[in-house]
Amino acid sequence: MRKHIVAGNWKMNNGLIQTETLISELKQQTKTSDAEVMIAPTFTNLWHAFESTRQDDIEVIAQNMHFAENGAYTGEISAGMLKSIGIKTVILGHSERRAYFNETDDSLAKKVDTALANTMRVIFCFGEELSDRKAGNEEAVVERQIKNALFHLEASAFKHIVLAYEPVWAIGTGETASPEQAQDMHAFIRKTLNSKYGETVADDMTILYGGSVKPNNAKEIFSKPDVDGGLIGGAALNAEDFYAIVNAF
Ligand code: PGA
Repeated sequence: MRKHIVAGNWKMNNGLIQTETLISELKQQTKTSDAEVMIAPTFTNLWHAFESTRQDDIEVIAQNMHFAENGAYTGEISAGMLKSIGIKTVILGHSERRAYFNETDDSLAKKVDTALANTMRVIFCFGEELSDRKAGNEEAVVERQIKNALFHLEASAFKHIVLAYEPVWAIGTGETASPEQAQDMHAFIRKTLNSKYGETVADDMTILYGGSVKPNNAKEIFSKPDVDGGLIGGAALNAEDFYAIVNAF
């Protein structure tokens, strides 16, 4: 059976004190589902978050990393640095990284390679813009994003990859894809994987949905057969809301 995952992307929110507070609130919540729980605080709080959740059923993950192993890249963070503090999973290709920091399919392919070379797990994000959906191009865009960044990999690499479909028009907008829209796209993603790598890779792939997932819509979205979890932004900043989503499975 595929893994269920609910990952909270804190984005550029929460200093040290807020990070401590939110983590202690998260620890007070009860998990009643089988979902793996992850949180992605900002870089400066990763070590603290990692240390303070060591005994808990919460994995601390990174929001981004550079593709180079090290060197003259002022302001950047490498896979080795993340590994050195115990971080084993990294989010790559978030639409905000693509939109504001010029991340492209090509640079993301390099980042994926570096993460895998460092035995990290990747949560790879992609999704169409509103204009793509209005033009009926959403499947073509998603297919291109997946193929360009991932289809150079061997089938065995996909054991270390989680996919996150996040339609850009649904991120932080309060507008979520309908459960049917999410299901249709997730089924299409699985079909795309199947066409290149076969049924086992496609069937085993955990595919998350992201974009305005909230306690009041998570259950319906997660009830769809090809939706294996969520990447949560805004609602991950509130412990009760986040666990309501975790427990929606
Ligand atoms: P949102 O963000 O839940 O606030 O829409 C999702 C994301 O960016 O991963």
